[in-house]
Amino acid sequence: MKKILSMLLSMTMLCSLAACGGETPSDEEKSPAASADTAEQSAELSSENAVESEGASDGAEQEEAAGENRDTLIAYFSWSGNTEQMAQMIQTATGGVLFEIEPATPYTDEYDTLLDVAQQEQADDARPALASEVDNWDSYDVVFVGYPDWWGDAPMLIYSFLEAYDWEGKTLVPFCTSGGSGFGRSLDKLPDSAPEAVIAEGLHVSGNRVGGAEEEVASWINGLNLT
Ligand SMILES: Cc1cc2nc3c(=O)[nH]c(=O)nc-3n(C[C@H](O)[C@H](O)[C@H](O)COP(=O)(O)O)c2cc1C
Repeated sequence: MKKILSMLLSMTMLCSLAACGGETPSDEEKSPAASADTAEQSAELSSENAVESEGASDGAEQEEAAGENRDTLIAYFSWSGNTEQMAQMIQTATGGVLFEIEPATPYTDEYDTLLDVAQQEQADDARPALASEVDNWDSYDVVFVGYPDWWGDAPMLIYSFLEAYDWEGKTLVPFCTSGGSGFGRSLDKLPDSAPEAVIAEGLHVSGNRVGGAEEEVASWINGLNLT
């Protein structure tokens, strides 16, 4: 019975994804931090397109793909499921290990409240505590790090994650979903939090296009020439 319910849930999620993919995307490249109004519009727009995902809020996750590429880690934070979906595509393309970055204190489920919380964390340059650690960090050569754009930047939790590990000898590959702002300021800030890392070319996909981005993701990964 549980299996049937879980299949029905998966089918419902797939339908939602298809619906999201059909909506008109925003081409705006606005920085929300520059204007609260602009930010809220941008965030609201992308919230409409964001996909609610059980997986995004379900406890820490660290799982290996069938392909078993133990050199590659795909670490991601996702509040509403878009970045998680992209992370899963990267896992399919690389055979790496998935790791969900989660805060020790979960974020609110209320979108409007989250906007304020995220903005305050950014204003405080906060480093929210992490819920869990990566096992066998030293075994990874390549670490994909994925996150949604929050107010023109990565969520502060991402900087907590980056600063918790030694990046010596590792390649950091950023990826991001957003309502249209792309990576925002985060790309410029990554080296401060992971100074030893070699930072590879990242990929941004609009949240409402993630559902159809498999080929884009695969060709980006091929172009990185990671071995
Ligand atoms: C707190 C918050 C702030 C956001 N700020 C922006 C923003 O500044 N620019 C933007 O394009 N999208 C913004 N968004 C939209 C998300 O980046 C977008 O929906 C993303 O795909 C969500 O990823 P997720 O489903 O993995 O959480 C914001 C969303 C939230 C919740």
